[in-house]
Amino acid sequence: MTARVRKAVIPAAGLGTRFLPATKALPKEMLPVVDKPAIQYVVEESVSADLTDVLMIIGRNKNAISNHFDRVTELELNLQKKGDTQKLERVVKSQELADIYYLRQGDPKGLGHAVARARAHVNNEPFAVLLGDDLIDARDPLLSTMIAEQEKRDATIIALMEVEPDQIHLYGAAEVEATDSEDVVKVTGLVEKPATEDAPSNLAIIGRYVLKPEVFDILEHTEPGKGGEIQLTDALQEMAADDDVAGGVYGVIFRGRRYDTGDRLDYIKAIVQLAMDRDDLGPALKPWLKDFTDNID
Ligand code: G1P
Repeated sequence: MTARVRKAVIPAAGLGTRFLPATKALPKEMLPVVDKPAIQYVVEESVSADLTDVLMIIGRNKNAISNHFDRVTELELNLQKKGDTQKLERVVKSQELADIYYLRQGDPKGLGHAVARARAHVNNEPFAVLLGDDLIDARDPLLSTMIAEQEKRDATIIALMEVEPDQIHLYGAAEVEATDSEDVVKVTGLVEKPATEDAPSNLAIIGRYVLKPEVFDILEHTEPGKGGEIQLTDALQEMAADDDVAGGVYGVIFRGRRYDTGDRLDYIKAIVQLAMDRDDLGPALKPWLKDFTDNID
């Protein structure tokens, strides 16, 4: 019987240089997607998969993140006085979502290094990792499917999504074999950000993982890889190459809606798509957007 997945780790120590100067003083994870910071969507996703114990690995200047999930009594009192219950509810929700713990990464040595820092908190249990740049639409559950696969197979599970071949250099790419399930593949190899011609497939790792704790031992000896950083993909490649290490690696193929907020253009698209689906904004945004695009030549 394998241990149940109970904890989530959210690495949030990236520098966000693609959004400079907006991210000079503001962590990229706090950039608003409609009216919530990107990181809140990720915490909500974790909670929807019943993972309410969340460890965030943060960098310098990331106090805004912990402030966001904390109480702001003056603000609550102010909204109470005004009788603005709707806003009050939204403020309170953001601080009661989960049990959030914070750990500083120290040297920013890459995603693998950030995950390795979670060892003492996670201990000897399988755990989820959610990357903040990828938002998964709440209507298309992914993490709960991955957790179920982890429990069923007692292996490491990663989320994969088909991308255009010319985009694969932005992701970890997987070499896979079919299984008896259409949406699950056996991962036989992984390469971090390969050139299109070297990619084993156009299946990209999107930022969701359910890892077995054996990954911590592997990360301890994982050498810096692509970009001089300790890559989680390289540690997972070691696990994929040998089923005896910890039951191997499987990929859940995601075919739902994903929004990339790590890239400026995709960030703009994410805001428009999510706002369109909102009852309070969509009805007014839609006709305006139609009119706007009709006038584009
Ligand atoms: C990270 C991982 C990469 C993965 C990607 C998903 O890269 O290293 O394997 O495909 O997240 O978003 P990053 O985008 O942080 O450079």
